[in-house]
Amino acid sequence: MIIFQEDSVKAMDNKIIHTENVDLYYGNFHALKNINFSIAEKKITAMIGPSGCGKSTLLRVFNRMNDLVEGARVTGEVKIAGQNILAGNTDLLNLRKKVGMVFQRPNPFPLSIFENIVFGLKIHQMYQKNKNKLMEIAEQSLKAVLLWDELKNKLNHLATNLSLEQQQKICIARLLVVKPEILLMDEPCSALDPISTARIEELMQELKKDYTIVIVTHNMQQAARVSDETGYMLLGELVEFGDTQRIFTAPTDRRTEDYITGRLG
Ligand SMILES: Nc1ncnc2c1ncn2[C@@H]1O[C@H](COP(=O)(O)OP(=O)(O)O)[C@@H](O)[C@H]1O
Ligand SMILES: [Mg+2]
Repeated sequence: MIIFQEDSVKAMDNKIIHTENVDLYYGNFHALKNINFSIAEKKITAMIGPSGCGKSTLLRVFNRMNDLVEGARVTGEVKIAGQNILAGNTDLLNLRKKVGMVFQRPNPFPLSIFENIVFGLKIHQMYQKNKNKLMEIAEQSLKAVLLWDELKNKLNHLATNLSLEQQQKICIARLLVVKPEILLMDEPCSALDPISTARIEELMQELKKDYTIVIVTHNMQQAARVSDETGYMLLGELVEFGDTQRIFTAPTDRRTEDYITGRLG
């Protein structure tokens, strides 16, 4: 009964991403199979499942990164804030500004902390002549990722010399300057120790006040800790999707149950 109540509350959430009959092929290989679901705005959605099930591929659908993969072909409809981003005339630069992505290994540029943060503004040719504005944005952005106090006197230091946790936060901060709506995180903590992982998870809770977050993780505990909704993927299929607590306590699909109880994967 309680589950029904929760589900009806969930149903009223604002959804920002809708997928309809999404299939993706790498050449002849069918990597995503008829994906239909919606992702809630300003929530954390986790995609879990065994290695190779299509989590990263699905994430890359949301910012059209699979376009860069030779032989990848996607069909169906993906609407973000009402726009079908699979349409031929989608402005990819603008899409990737709205939908930012961080990866398993932090990948700051071999530049100063400051230059890393404001890099996206250069690409979009914003505020390039206004040093004060750039500094103000860098400060806001570093504050947003909880790094300002520790790095404010080191803005000209190389970002690549920072700890991995700091580097990952820099990679998030550098997305924020172009005012994204959605942050895609592909196993963002897999290079980090447990303490740094906990700090990134804390940061995610802060960020979800302003951003929609979709995180891919092979770490079920992490999904259970941080996310509001969880999707379980297997062999390119979205087997089950719903409220995280329900997925982990009362999955309806036997395959989800096998995975979360450790009988698979
Ligand atoms: N560029 C590619 N070309 C061909 N097959 C790929 C490519 N990228 C991924 N795949 C295949 O697609 C499937 C899903 O991969 P991926 O999305 O990376 O899974 P996950 O992130 O869940 O580990 C895997 O079988 C993988 O081998
Ligand atoms: Mg992956």
